Formats: sequence, C-alpha cells, structure tokens
Amino acid sequence: MTAPKHFLDLHKLDAQTLHAILALGSDIKSGRKSVSLAGKTLALIFEKPSTRTRVSFEVGMMQLGGNVVVMDDNGSQLGRGETVADTARVLSRYVDAIMIRTDDPAKLDELARHATVPVINGLTDDSHPCQLMADVMTYEEHRGSIRGKKVAWVGDGNNMAASFVHAAGRFGFSLALATPEELALDGAVLRWAESEGVDVTVTRDADVACAGADLVVTDTWVSMGDKDSDRRHALLKPYQVDARRMTLANADAVFMHCLPAHRDEEVTADVIDGPQSVIWDEAENRLHAQKGILAWCMG
Ligand code: CP
Repeated sequence: MTAPKHFLDLHKLDAQTLHAILALGSDIKSGRKSVSLAGKTLALIFEKPSTRTRVSFEVGMMQLGGNVVVMDDNGSQLGRGETVADTARVLSRYVDAIMIRTDDPAKLDELARHATVPVINGLTDDSHPCQLMADVMTYEEHRGSIRGKKVAWVGDGNNMAASFVHAAGRFGFSLALATPEELALDGAVLRWAESEGVDVTVTRDADVACAGADLVVTDTWVSMGDKDSDRRHALLKPYQVDARRMTLANADAVFMHCLPAHRDEEVTADVIDGPQSVIWDEAENRLHAQKGILAWCMG
C-alpha cells in the first residue's frame, strides 16, 4: 500500500511539491484545470473554533464534487476519550482524507501515524500551513513571485510566525520577525531555519522589521487558548502595525492578516481597511489554495 499524502507542515514537504500544489490551486481557481473529487469524502475535526477553515474546506469539497463530515469534541467520542489512534483507524475506513484543527500538535502527528488516508493540518498551536499556502498565493497574485522578497512578521511569535519561517525556507523569501522577547518564536523553529540556511532575522524592533519590507503581516494578540490577555496586550502594544510603520515598508508593500482581526489593537483600521491591505483576497484564497491541497492529497 502506498503511503498517504499527508499535508502536515510546510517544512515536511519539498519546495517543488508546494509549488505544484499552489499551481494546481491557481489552475482550478482560473478554470485552466478541472478537478473532480466526486465520490470522495473529507472528515473535518474541529477541537477549536473556526470560520474560514471550516467554511473554505466545506465549500471547497462541495465545489469539487465531494462531501464532508464535520466532527467536534461535543458530538463525537473523541471528546469522551476515544483515542486519536482509534479514531484515525476508524475514519480511514469511511473517508478519503481527514482535516484536523487541534491545540495539540501531537494529536495531528498521532492521527497521521495511524490513518491510512491523507491527514491535513487545519491549525495546531505550532503551525498553520494551509493559511500560509493562501498567503503565498495571494502575494504572488498581487506582486509576482515571492522569491527574494522581504516579509516582516510583527507581533506574537505564534503558530503563524512558525509557518512563515517554514514558508520562507520553501518559497525562498527573507523573513524579519519582530516579537517581544517574552513572546518569542519557539527556538526549535529558528534552529530548523538555521540548519536549512533560511534567511530569518529576529528583532525586538518592529520598525527594523518593516523597513524595506514587501509584505507586512501581523496576527491577533490573543490567540485561541491564550489566557494572559492583559499581559499580551501590554507586551504587544509597541508592535501595532499602523500607517507610520507601513511607510517604512516598500511603496508597493502589501498588508496581510490571517483573521479574525481586532482593529486598533494589532493593526489600525486605516491599514487593514486601506489600499495596501489584501486581506479579503487572502481569506478567499484559503478556498483556492486548499482545493490544490485536497486535489494533491486525494487526486
Ligand atoms: N485564519 C483562520 O484560520 O481563520 P479561522 O480560525 O476562522 O478558521
């Protein structure tokens, strides 16, 4: 039996595969390619809330002719202690792929180890690779190849920041990470970047990160599961992306945010709703990039 084509993390796939998945998503989006997943079913497991991930996967499967089954902790035996391994074995007998959103990356890995169908990472506390595929697609639609460009990540050193590091390695852009020391990115991700020769710089100064950037990105200050809201607001206030900071970036720089956003916290309203913001295209491209992932996994 051939091994399932899991989509677990960007750094676990090679650059050629990731480019091919994005090209497939773009070709489906433009109508250059037609892909049918008729007769295929995707299980969606949500242990955390979602708007974009849930709707884009459901609609994506529907538009490709397939079906979905949505599960959450309350409505399944996972929430009552059935093991992830057993769940993987059972679901593999019913469906053709499984997407999971969970806090614990170990659950994603366990699911992938025991499933005989492809497993897709719909976000863990460690990474969010589907979002990065949409972000790269969006940048390239607006400004051409992201290779050799400078991306500024400003704010929390969270799962999105980690996936930006992985994307920098696979798509060949340089990344400046501006985070407070207390919310710095996991050292293991930076060690991976160093071992792969990825162009990542870490600074505590958001202005330094934004200077000369082609893409400025931020994220909510309090992610799902974070319990220290007041502390985070205090630490991240100096990292707000505002109009002055955007002027430090290149004149044709674009602004992205994976959403949901909190206007006038991590980003001012004039930036996120302004002419450099491409957030609605970015959100739409979750649908198109994920069609590429689904077609690659199950095609
Ligand atoms: N960006 C993102 O993953 O959005 P949801 O949490 O709404 O899925």
